Amino acid sequence: MDILKKISESCDYLKSRSEIRPKVAIVLGTGLGNFAEKIAVSDTIPYSEIPHFKVSTVQGHSGCLIFGHIDGVPVMAMKGRLHYYEGYTMQEITFPIRVMKAMGIETVMVSNAAGGLNPEYVPGDIMIIKDHINLFPEHPLHGPNIEELGTRFPDMSNAYDKALVKRALEVGEEKGFGLKCGVYVGTQGPTFETLAEYRYFRIIGGDTVGMSTVPEVIVANHAGMAVFGVSVVSNVGLDANLSNVTHEEVQQNTILAQDKLSLLFTEMVKCCG
Ligand code: HPA
Repeated sequence: MDILKKISESCDYLKSRSEIRPKVAIVLGTGLGNFAEKIAVSDTIPYSEIPHFKVSTVQGHSGCLIFGHIDGVPVMAMKGRLHYYEGYTMQEITFPIRVMKAMGIETVMVSNAAGGLNPEYVPGDIMIIKDHINLFPEHPLHGPNIEELGTRFPDMSNAYDKALVKRALEVGEEKGFGLKCGVYVGTQGPTFETLAEYRYFRIIGGDTVGMSTVPEVIVANHAGMAVFGVSVVSNVGLDANLSNVTHEEVQQNTILAQDKLSLLFTEMVKCCG
């Protein structure tokens, strides 16, 4: 079945399951699912019930779409995302982003847990993503371009909407959060990096590194949606003593940042509502 038909079937199904018509979508990454508690939830729809959605296989990434309100603003949130390392294709990973566009979403907000490359970063820090470096081995727009979905050669110079970055930094100042702002390096995983790789990613300009986000952000840009992105630093890559990173450690350290992140996302949703 062609992708346009799949998108419209998913979209029609979601519209039949929820009366909410959100303008803002939020992708909740590893360990950040608790932000869902800030949403006044109207409808929860497991991915397994949505036509053409795939179901995530990773521990700690329960998969459902949530429709509700944050401070009166209608939102949809993806609790759990698909990762390339799980074996899905780039098209499968980014399909929900296509459906968001069809639902009328104008702004996509993404979060991820990431390794810190910048030597000033400590676990629990929140970094506003101002740009990314795509090191995935495949591109989500590879193949014939479907004009209805976007242009052949999308501009990526405002991939992370500059006005939203500026607003987030203002919120950080107002609330005394000490937010960081930097460049996210997206890799395929599932291995964490060798120490030499952490050094290399720092040298090429990265501040954090992770295994998600980049495919979704590319597709959101292709679709003409504004993107706001945040990394939560869950481990610090360049310190040899801390380098035996585990998935459990990543999840625990993201909990440190949860309250700040919830407040920040609430403010950002309000300014996009
Ligand atoms: N590397 C890649 N992905 C990650 C890391 C890391 O150190 N921490 C959390 N996600």
